Amino acid sequence: MTVRVTGFFLLLIAGVSLGQECAPKKYDTGIVCVCNVSYCDELPPLKKLDQPQYQVFTSNQDGLRLHRTNGTFQPYAFNLLNILNSLNTIQINKYERYQTIFGFGGAFTDAFGINLQSVEPALQEKVLSSYFSKSGIEYNVGRVPIGGTDFSTKGYSYDDSDTPDPSLSLFKLADEDYRYKLSYIRRARELNQELKLFASAWIAPKWMKTNHAFSGFGRVKDEYYQTWANYHKKFFDEYKKENITFWGVTTGNEPSLSMFGSNIPSNRFTIEEMKRWVGDHLGPTIRQSEYKDLKIMVLDDQRVFLPWFVDAVFSNETIKNYIDIVAVHWYWDDVILPFVLDLVHTKYPEKLLMGTEACVGDRVWEKGVELGSWQRGERYAFSVIQDIQHHFIGWTDWNMALDTKGGPTYINNNVDSPIIINSAAGEFYKQPMYYSLGHFSKFVPRGSVRIGITQKQFISSTAFLRPDQGVVVVLQNRGNFGHNIELVDSERGKISLSLGPHSLTTVVYY
Ligand SMILES: *[C@@H]1O[C@H](CO)[C@@H](O)[C@H](O)[C@H]1NC(C)=O
Ligand SMILES: *[C@@H]1O[C@H](CO)[C@@H](O)[C@H](O)[C@H]1NC(C)=O
Ligand SMILES: *[C@@H]1O[C@H](CO)[C@@H](O)[C@H](O)[C@H]1NC(C)=O
Ligand SMILES: *[C@@H]1O[C@H](CO)[C@@H](O)[C@H](O)[C@H]1NC(C)=O
Repeated sequence: MTVRVTGFFLLLIAGVSLGQECAPKKYDTGIVCVCNVSYCDELPPLKKLDQPQYQVFTSNQDGLRLHRTNGTFQPYAFNLLNILNSLNTIQINKYERYQTIFGFGGAFTDAFGINLQSVEPALQEKVLSSYFSKSGIEYNVGRVPIGGTDFSTKGYSYDDSDTPDPSLSLFKLADEDYRYKLSYIRRARELNQELKLFASAWIAPKWMKTNHAFSGFGRVKDEYYQTWANYHKKFFDEYKKENITFWGVTTGNEPSLSMFGSNIPSNRFTIEEMKRWVGDHLGPTIRQSEYKDLKIMVLDDQRVFLPWFVDAVFSNETIKNYIDIVAVHWYWDDVILPFVLDLVHTKYPEKLLMGTEACVGDRVWEKGVELGSWQRGERYAFSVIQDIQHHFIGWTDWNMALDTKGGPTYINNNVDSPIIINSAAGEFYKQPMYYSLGHFSKFVPRGSVRIGITQKQFISSTAFLRPDQGVVVVLQNRGNFGHNIELVDSERGKISLSLGPHSLTTVVYY
């Protein structure tokens, strides 16, 4: 069944038994699903269909959004004819096992909280539910900035003393934590008890910095490295008092920004500085504290630093042993092929790779929000598939919601987000990027294992075995032409699928 966005009613009829469907709104740039206090599309929890049935969820440029259909496996015989015809066959191999999946999510930035607070509580709840609940896309990962970021209304740290305060006697959480973060994080965790958080710092107090500024060419002064580690520990203490505990901590957001003197706040860590930071300060401080089980996530920066940056850092065994995860951002993926991820995985199989930030609209020629952009949603899905095929255990988006201008951001670094909140209209828009991430996050729970799948030239694909033994396959067609394929599981049979142009498909079977 193909339902195009010809009207709200058609979709409602098609979706009678499937939960509330998308209320589409068309822009020149594409289609969004509109939510207001009284209406928001919902995705019912995954139903387990018995063998030999399977279900298919489709999104596409024409306006389908996780549209559910079902079918029955057809017999498939491994004979010569089928092998000769295998041009269109995509084979699942459940016995070829790779990494275990940790999860998918986004970041609790000040901008997210500010935008939530700009609408009434019932609508805030719909945003949080869209991301975290069983009727949403079931995010189970959250990134929490330690203090401010460029997506705050001003630069700030937790100890903005005019004079040095090495004992951190003035350390305290900011108003922003109380107003824009804590209660939303707690609510998200109520909606999904599987939610796990990791923290990253952008901004160190000016008195700690070589350039006495939050951004620019600066780093934490040598004499304050331990203070900066203590500062991290104090953050975990304060959040613990608020009943919020963490799973991981990165070594700091994008240390490379300050090597270029960017106006985005950051702290420089060259290889030698990173070794000293992890080996003599952050590592021992975390491991000797009550937070000793935190995953320490190195890099938190672009692929271009792989594998050489971690090679150099890991050349010291002590330092290498402090690190659990190599955290990677996506911004330069177009120019750096994913084989660098394989190099890291092959050399350090015990270190896990994870995506810790991504967003679109960050480039000069494509700044800010583009409502309904299918192409942007397509870039997300393509990246998730590629990263997972190259050993990522999870993928984390940036701001979970922005305003219609792609802010607020005090340095005007406006970008895009999977949810755009229009407070004046009392509504929010779910962009294709939201559904792209949902094609994975909703169906691939923590503990799923990536399994084997044959790769085709025109179709990107990845597959998983869920902890409940369900199989999930995600197939992406980014081309202008449809492709008919046969998905083959030798123990089940075959599924014939027509993958339309610019479509994303998730298949689930037990
Ligand atoms: C909310 O959205 C629904 C579906 O698009 C629409 O029928 C309804 O009028 C909207 N309600 C308000 C208060 O805007
Ligand atoms: C499968 O799809 C058919 C046709 O759309 C529908 O009538 C039926 O309820 C679906 N079965 C399940 C278990 O969802
Ligand atoms: C934290 O949890 C304790 C025990 O459940 C509770 O008494 C306290 O009110 C909570 N604090 C906050 C800030 O939620
Ligand atoms: C490795 O790093 C640790 C912690 O920084 C340091 O104490 C030790 O001297 C280093 N070892 C070598 C061989 O450089």
